[in-house]
Amino acid sequence: MIPQSLHKTFSAVDGYIDSYLVSADSALKAARKTAAAAGLPDIAVTPSQGRLLYLLARSVKARNILEIGTLGAYSTIWLARALPANGKLITLEFSPKHAQIAHKNIARAGLSRKVDLREGAALDTLPKIAAERRRFDFFFIDADKENNANYFQWALKLARPASLIFVDNVIRDGKVADPRSKDPMIQGVRRLNDLLKKEKRVIATTVQTVGTKGYDGFTLALVAR
Ligand code: SAH
Ligand code: DHB
Ligand code: MG
Repeated sequence: MIPQSLHKTFSAVDGYIDSYLVSADSALKAARKTAAAAGLPDIAVTPSQGRLLYLLARSVKARNILEIGTLGAYSTIWLARALPANGKLITLEFSPKHAQIAHKNIARAGLSRKVDLREGAALDTLPKIAAERRRFDFFFIDADKENNANYFQWALKLARPASLIFVDNVIRDGKVADPRSKDPMIQGVRRLNDLLKKEKRVIATTVQTVGTKGYDGFTLALVAR
């Protein structure tokens, strides 16, 4: 854990960055507010991280996005807004309660036509998506960290050449560097890194981050052309 004084600084800087670079509008603000009011955990990406997802999806001109872990659809809204008129985002969510809140937030943002929310455990819904022969050019992996390596392998199966795979929360207060950590989330991230070390089909890196959500980080992988 980071000292509270540092966290205060990280949050203040996030506020400063947001005030200059991130215009979170009413639909995004409502998504956060309704999720909090319904008692959902406060773990959605921050505004500047949402903006990064949007920027990356725009950069690769994503037409088909797969998100694993919807929560209240805050990140979903950022990503779906990066899509062209005929673009589609499929988002996978295990919790019916989270899905219900997410549906409302997606509708409020005017994105129901572009977003297809599939309820259930992602490892059950992913084979169905594969059977539909869908392919994606951008992946946001942000569900149960225990399955990170499994989700990454699914992303590789469903990717196109030059697809981007973004994996959230891979540093977790620095605990990832402890090989003896018993935390199943950490073990999940470390299994992903074992896989990345050997995987020749991707160029990947991991960046540590700080902000209102504390000390964490993300992995970004580019699938070979
Ligand atoms: N992407 C969201 C945050 C997701 S939080 C955002 O940034 O706004 C992680 C979500 O993954 C939670 O809603 C949780 O219910 C969901 N989840 C956990 N295990 C899952 C599983 N096996 N399959 C699908 N979703 C799962
Ligand atoms: C957790 C999950 C997240 O997706 C996140 O961004 C932060 C924390 C969690 O399960 O603790
Ligand atoms: Mg996350």
